[in-house]
Amino acid sequence: MSIHIGAEPGDIAERVLMPGDPLRAKWIAETYLDDAKCYTQVRGMLGYTGRWHGVEVSVQGSGMGMPSASIYTHELINDYGVKTLIRVGSCGALAEELQLRDVIAASGASTDSNMNRARFDGLIDYAPVADFGLLRTAVEKAEQRGIPMTVGPILAADAFYTDRPDLYDSLADYGVLAVEMESAALYTIAARFKARALTLLTVSDHIKRGEKTTSQEREQTFGQMVEIALDTAIA
Ligand code: ADE
Repeated sequence: MSIHIGAEPGDIAERVLMPGDPLRAKWIAETYLDDAKCYTQVRGMLGYTGRWHGVEVSVQGSGMGMPSASIYTHELINDYGVKTLIRVGSCGALAEELQLRDVIAASGASTDSNMNRARFDGLIDYAPVADFGLLRTAVEKAEQRGIPMTVGPILAADAFYTDRPDLYDSLADYGVLAVEMESAALYTIAARFKARALTLLTVSDHIKRGEKTTSQEREQTFGQMVEIALDTAIA
């Protein structure tokens, strides 16, 4: 096992969906995968492997925020040979045109995290981006399922609660669609270790309008996003 994942080599598929919430990982495995088996419960961060249309797929909780997501991304790739990682999460919308429950594919992730500044010695503002092939496939799969999906840049923030909503206004002016808390780390680590990564998100709240989804609404749209992610993972 790796430090944070209690799986044996071979227990985890080359293709992994990563929700932040470990109970979402359980829900995805039980709802969508055939013969799903739990391979880790370390720290309650559940992981499962099963089959989607006959192809092995795993689902691994990543926790909230970039320090946690970095650990799981790093170990999945380096200790278990994972090649494709698709985050399935929620976000707060910044763009006026987005509505609650809309699905977003994050083409790139700006960040206020210091993790990449430290990585590049404060000399480079690295631009974490999605794997283009995965992004293109996700767009095709969404179209085939008739699920509208907006593609564009997001912010991966260190803090959920901010004292600087004015910065969110500026980011919206620069075309940033929404805020979540993991993708800059996911995209950076995947690039560093030659894996492919993509983030799909559903809008759980609209930051500017102060709107929020109910948990029942979140579950329904979450399912549509998971279907796009699973189709993309096995393509
Ligand atoms: N995930 C869902 N909503 C969010 C928000 N408002 N900020 C950061 N991450 C989020």
